[in-house]
Amino acid sequence: MNQLNFVRAGSGQPLVLIHGFPLDHSAWLPLLPHLTGHFDVILPDLSGFGASALPEGGCSLDEMAASLAYLLRGLGLSRAFLAGHSMGGYVALAFARQSPHMVLGLGLISTQAGADTPEGQANRHKTAAAVAEKGPGVVADAMSPKLSANPAHEALLRETILRQPAPGIINALKAMAARPDSSGLLSHFDFPVSIVHGQADALIPAERAREIKAALLRVHLTELPGVGHMPMLEAPAETAEALKTLL
Ligand code: MLT
Repeated sequence: MNQLNFVRAGSGQPLVLIHGFPLDHSAWLPLLPHLTGHFDVILPDLSGFGASALPEGGCSLDEMAASLAYLLRGLGLSRAFLAGHSMGGYVALAFARQSPHMVLGLGLISTQAGADTPEGQANRHKTAAAVAEKGPGVVADAMSPKLSANPAHEALLRETILRQPAPGIINALKAMAARPDSSGLLSHFDFPVSIVHGQADALIPAERAREIKAALLRVHLTELPGVGHMPMLEAPAETAEALKTLL
């Protein structure tokens, strides 16, 4: 179990916002003012990102999820809403697999339920090797222009990626490549799910969100026209509204 750094603000039912790759809790900050009147918002840095250490030997997405459960129990919280962005969605799904009794509801933002294809896995390992050789600039160059559909966000995203430690980036790439397919899990969910996806997402097509919706009963899908992979940055008010439907 890994001790995680986190920021906490607001009051209401607990909501854990799980950031994507290769970012940290700061990715959620534009969303925070829209949520603190409704939720006790907890923003962790996943293992190896932000100010959270990477455990020796690295960790899987399942272990990242277990560290979140440990954090919640340490805060005296037996249940919480969880919303994950992209890789954070993979971690949220791992959490729901491990500890379904702790989930009040799930937000799935710009994410997908399936596993990587063998080609996708090979690309992740290639990128991990390039980061080991050249540092986080490799992923900053590749991803920062693609994350948001609004070019005004590129500099901030680039800066955020460049702040992340290379071992955390490398670990997360390997952990994402090894993650299981969570599609079969969805029909077991007995809590509400709110999906948010940008129709201009250049990394994960909106079709993946529609597939998740089709597998669920208690589900709300918000598709955002003209929005890319970063709805919390590109459309914070709409993203917050979608999360409030979980209440
Ligand atoms: C993310 O935004 O977390 C990543 O793009 C997810 C992924 O690479 O699968």
